[in-house]
Amino acid sequence: MPNILIVGGTGKIGTELLSLLAKHHASIRVLRRPNSKSQFSNPGDFEIVYGDLDDSESIRVALKGISQVFLLTRDQPQQGELESKLIDLAISAGVKKIVKSSAFAAGLNPPVGYGLTHTVSEQKLMTSGLNWVILRPYMFMQNFLELADLIKSRGIIPLPMGKTKIGLIDARDVALVAKTILVGEEHENRIYELTGPESLSLAEAAEILSNLLGRTIHYRSPPLWLAGLMMRMQDVSSWDVRMRKQLFRMIHEGGEDKVTGDVEKISGQKPRTLEMFFREYQNTFQ
Ligand SMILES: NC(=O)c1ccc[n+]([C@@H]2O[C@H](COP(=O)([O-])OP(=O)(O)OC[C@H]3O[C@@H](n4cnc5c(N)ncnc54)[C@H](OP(=O)(O)O)[C@@H]3O)[C@@H](O)[C@H]2O)c1
Repeated sequence: MPNILIVGGTGKIGTELLSLLAKHHASIRVLRRPNSKSQFSNPGDFEIVYGDLDDSESIRVALKGISQVFLLTRDQPQQGELESKLIDLAISAGVKKIVKSSAFAAGLNPPVGYGLTHTVSEQKLMTSGLNWVILRPYMFMQNFLELADLIKSRGIIPLPMGKTKIGLIDARDVALVAKTILVGEEHENRIYELTGPESLSLAEAAEILSNLLGRTIHYRSPPLWLAGLMMRMQDVSSWDVRMRKQLFRMIHEGGEDKVTGDVEKISGQKPRTLEMFFREYQNTFQ
């Protein structure tokens, strides 16, 4: 019977986490939303249970016999409440430990952007009486994939971060840390800030990509108001625009200019560099 429940297993971190757990022959149950549009291949022939954090009965069923939960959901206004509900159900179900994937911005005082919703469930978890681990990653390298069309067609990376440097992390290294914690015994009641191996400006990122592609990619830093307007024109919700603008401002002011070394300390492996990431996804940007 599986003893680890993975919530968010169809996303960027979750997909990689499942692949890593499959190699480890871990005993896993995956929560899958009935209306999920994500591509999902089951790397370990894991047990699938259909449910949604919004549907408590489905979560009760999903939690039967489970001792650990990996908890990740997408950014949404009710994220804190949905995750908190799961934490309550986990306590009733006798779960021992929850590993929550959060965000760096949740640790700021006051928290900003999506960190505001993460804080709600972080607080809930830390006072739950369960064993817990909270992962707070910096900005994902995978965000560049969302700009691939602009990079291909116009040769630009448009992000309002100015000249600041950022400890960018590959989301797959967040998964690596989560896997290490789920299959190990250590790491109780800890918060980890996860970064890649170097802090880079986006102009440096553009230069790395230019060298790989053999053509010049320019970094452009629009003013925040213009970035907000562009997001609205792409139908990003007003809530998301507000949250992202707060995050962009915090990063622009140097908030994520740091390298923590926690990925290697916990997993024993060096986190991926941005060059490694771009090389792997070169065809997407070519
Ligand atoms: N992007 C960044 O730079 C960055 C940096 C730091 C932290 N973060 C944090 O990382 C998280 C996103 O991680 P990710 O990129 O791996 O996520 P993702 O690819 O967006 O995947 C989100 C996952 O959550 C699941 N989910 C959403 N709502 C759910 C619900 N109501 N019940 C059950 N499952 C639900 C989705 O399932 P479906 O397949 O059904 O949709 C999917 O598996 C966010 O919390 C964000 O704040 C992001």
